[in-house]
Amino acid sequence: MALFPVQGIFDDDFVVMLIPIDDADPMSVVAEKVAHHAAGRRVAPQPGPLRVRFHGQVLADTATVADAGVAPARCAAGGVSMSHVEDGWADALELGELWEGDIIDVELHGEQILLVHHVGGEILAFQGMCPHQEVLLADGNWNDESGVLECPGHHWQFDMRTGNGLNPTGCRLYRFPVRVADEQIQVGIPSDGVRHHNRANDS
Ligand code: FES
Repeated sequence: MALFPVQGIFDDDFVVMLIPIDDADPMSVVAEKVAHHAAGRRVAPQPGPLRVRFHGQVLADTATVADAGVAPARCAAGGVSMSHVEDGWADALELGELWEGDIIDVELHGEQILLVHHVGGEILAFQGMCPHQEVLLADGNWNDESGVLECPGHHWQFDMRTGNGLNPTGCRLYRFPVRVADEQIQVGIPSDGVRHHNRANDS
C-alpha cells in the first residue's frame, strides 16, 4: 500500500489529493477511492462513474495498479483526465497581461496551453490545440459572454468553463491547474514526461 498523489478533474472542478492504493487494486477500486475522497465532499457528486487514465490512455476497470505499471509518483486517475502534478508550476504571464474576457495562447515546457480569463475573474488553462485535428484554438471564435470557443478548423465548440465539447459532445479539453502567485499566473504542468492533450477519440 502506498500513497499516490492524484489530480482529479471533475465536472467544473478539480482536486489534488493523496489516496492509499495497493498494487493489487483494480482501476475500478482506484476510481472508487478517488470518488470516496472527493465526490460529494470536495467536489459536487458526479453523475457517472470515474475512469482511470494514465499516459493518456483510459485503463480497463479490471487492470490492477501493478498491471498498469503505475508507480506512486506517476499515478493518474479520473473522469477525463487526472494526472499527477509535482513541482511543475510554470510562470505563464503577469496577471495584468491577461485581462478579464481575454484568451491567450502560451507555450510552457513544450505544451501548447490556452489561458482563459473569464468575466468574473476565473482563470483556467486548457490544452491549446483542438482535440480534433490539432488546430490552434486561440485562433478560434471566442465569445467572452457565453464562454464558448469555436475552433477555426471545423467549428467544434467548447465550453471554456469546463473544457467540455458542446458541439460535438463527447470530447473534453485537458485542463491544467492554475494559480496566481505574486501577480503571476502559473500553470501546473504534470512532470510525468508525457504530453497532456486529449484527442477526439480518447477525450
Ligand atoms: S481541428 Fe478543431 S474542429 Fe477540426
